[in-house]
Amino acid sequence: MCGIVGYIGEKPAAPIILEGLSRLEYRGYDSAGIAVFNGDDICCKKSIGRLKVLENLTRGGQDMPGFCGIGHTRWATHGAPSNENAHPHFNQKETISIVHNGIIENYLQLKKFLEKKGYVFVSETDTEVLAHLLDYYYKGNPMEAIFRVLRRVEGSYALGILFAEHPDTLFAARKDSPLIVGQNEEGCFIASDVPAILKHTRLVTYVDNQEIVKLHASHMHFYNIDEEEIQKESVLIDWDADAAEKAGYEHFMLKEMYEQPKTITDTISPRIQKGGIHIEELHMSDEQLAVVRKIHIVACGSAYHAGVTGKYVIERLARISVEVDLASEFRYRDPILEEGAMVVVISQSGETADTLAALREAKKRGFQILGIVNVVGSSIAREADNVMYTWAGPEIAVATTKAYSAQLVALYLLAIRLAEAKKTIGNTEIERLLGALERLPHQIERLLNTKEQIQKFANRYLAAKDIFFIGRGIDYAISLEGSLKLKEISYIHSEAYAAGELKHGTISLIEEGTLVTAVSTQPQLYQKMISNIVEVKARGAFVMAVTGEDNREIEKAADYVIYIPETDPVFANSLAIIPLQLFGYYVAVGRGCDVDKPRNLAKSVTVE
Ligand code: AGP
Repeated sequence: MCGIVGYIGEKPAAPIILEGLSRLEYRGYDSAGIAVFNGDDICCKKSIGRLKVLENLTRGGQDMPGFCGIGHTRWATHGAPSNENAHPHFNQKETISIVHNGIIENYLQLKKFLEKKGYVFVSETDTEVLAHLLDYYYKGNPMEAIFRVLRRVEGSYALGILFAEHPDTLFAARKDSPLIVGQNEEGCFIASDVPAILKHTRLVTYVDNQEIVKLHASHMHFYNIDEEEIQKESVLIDWDADAAEKAGYEHFMLKEMYEQPKTITDTISPRIQKGGIHIEELHMSDEQLAVVRKIHIVACGSAYHAGVTGKYVIERLARISVEVDLASEFRYRDPILEEGAMVVVISQSGETADTLAALREAKKRGFQILGIVNVVGSSIAREADNVMYTWAGPEIAVATTKAYSAQLVALYLLAIRLAEAKKTIGNTEIERLLGALERLPHQIERLLNTKEQIQKFANRYLAAKDIFFIGRGIDYAISLEGSLKLKEISYIHSEAYAAGELKHGTISLIEEGTLVTAVSTQPQLYQKMISNIVEVKARGAFVMAVTGEDNREIEKAADYVIYIPETDPVFANSLAIIPLQLFGYYVAVGRGCDVDKPRNLAKSVTVE
C-alpha cells in the first residue's frame, strides 16, 4: 500500500504534495519521491526513508518550482527500498512520469515485451513497466496512450501521470487501489486517501474501477475504460484529519481487520494462476520440494501462532514433519537440524530481534532460509535466502490482524505447493483447495459484518479476570492467537490451552461464570470438543463456542455459539480468528484501552 498525491493549479505544487504525503505516511514510508513540471521539463527528487528526508532535500518543496506535480510514499512490494525503486518512475526520455499504488500482476510479461522493443529498465519495480508502456503507445495523445496501457495491464493500480508535452494536465486512473480527486478555487487534487487533501477541500470524488481522470487547474473530466466521458458525484467529508487516516474507523486495528479480505486476495492471487499454484519466490523445483523431509518454522508472537497452524496444515496435506519453535527458544537451545531440512522464519516487521537471531543461527549451520515477511527490504527479508512476501501493506496497530491472516494464507499456499510436489494430493484436490482459498475473502467479509453481535457479547466481559481459550489441533492454534489478541489490548489475563490437557491441572482455575471460548472447527473433533465443553461447564464455566455451520449439536452444550462459514478444515483458522479478533477488540474498547498502542508493547520488538 503506497501513498499518492497530485496537484495542478495556481499555487506551487511541491509544498501541497509534500504536506499531503505526510498525511499518508501510515500507508507506507520506506522511500518517497516527487515530480513537478517546472515550465520546461519534469523535475524529480527521490529519497530513502521517511518523508522528512525528501522534505529536507527539497526544502519543503521550495526548490521545486512548478504548478503541476505528483508525489509518492512507497510501501515496497517489488524491489527493496532504494532511490532507483522509489517513485515517480520515468520513460527513458523523461517526458512521462508516473506514481503507482498497487500490484501489476503481469509486469514480468510486459517487461519482457518492452525489453524486446529496446526499452532499458533502471528499477526492480512493476511500476516502471507502466512508464515505458505509456511511452510505447504515446503518439502525442496522452489519453489514447493511457487507454491502451490500461487495457493491457492486469492487477491493481491507482496512478498519477504527467506528460511533459501536456503541462496543463494531470492524469489519474484507478483499478482496485483507492484513489480520490478533489477541487477548490485554487486547483485540483488527486490522492490515495482523504487525509491528503482534507486541508484543501472536503468535497471529494471517489474514482471507481477503470476510470480515468483528466485534471486541469480549474476543472476535470472523467472517462470510463471505453473512452466515454462520464459524470461523477462528489461527497462531502465530515471526518477530521485523524479520523480520515483511519478511513473513518475508530482505530487502525479495526480498519486493518476490515482490510483482511483484500490482504488475502493480494497475497494469494499472484500465486494462483489458471487453477494452479505458482510460488516463484521459493526458487525450488518440484524435485527439490519433493525431497523435503523436515521443516522448522521459527517466529514470535502471532507469527509463531501462524506457524503452529502451518504445522498442522503442512503435515496434513504434504505429510512432512514440521517443528515449530519460539525464536527466543530456538536460538539458545542448540537445535538439532536434520540435513536437508527447510527452515521457515515468519515475521510481519522483518525486524524482530529474536527471529532475526534465529535466522542467523540456522544460516550459520548451513541451512537455506525461507522468509514469510510483510515488510519488503527489512532485515529478515534481506538475510533470508528466499522470501515469500505477505502483501498486507503497512500494519499500524500493534496487535496484528491483517498481517497474521496473510501469514496464514502464505502457509496454506506453501503447504499445497509441497503437497503438489510430493504428490500427496492430486490436481482435483488442489483445485478444490485453491477454490476454497479464493472464497476466504468473501467469507471473512460476512464474519466482519457480525461485529455488532460480537460487541454486545464482549460488553458482558469487560470486568472479567480470566478468560480461557481451548481447542484441539488447528483449533488449539486458533486459541493461541485468540487469547493473545484479547490480553495484549484489553489487559485481561487469558490463556490458550489444548482442550485435552485442561483436566491435567488448569481446570482447577475454572470458577462459576469463568468465560471459556471453545474453538471447534475440525469435524473429526466435534464430539471431543463437546465433551470438553461439558467438562468445564460442570465447573461453572460460561462457554462461547466458535464452530462450523454444520455443528448444530454443540448448541446443547455451549451457552453462546458463533458459526463460521463452510470451508476446508485446514483453512478454518482464517475464519474462526475473525470473531476472536473482534471480541478482543471490543473488550479493549469497552475497557477504554489504547487499542492501537497497548501499554508495554511495540509494533516491532527489535531488542531481545
Ligand atoms: C501480535 O499482535 C504482537 N504484536 C506480537 O506478538 C508480534 O506478533 C510479534 O512481536 C512478532 O512480530 P513480527 O511478526 O513483526 O516478527
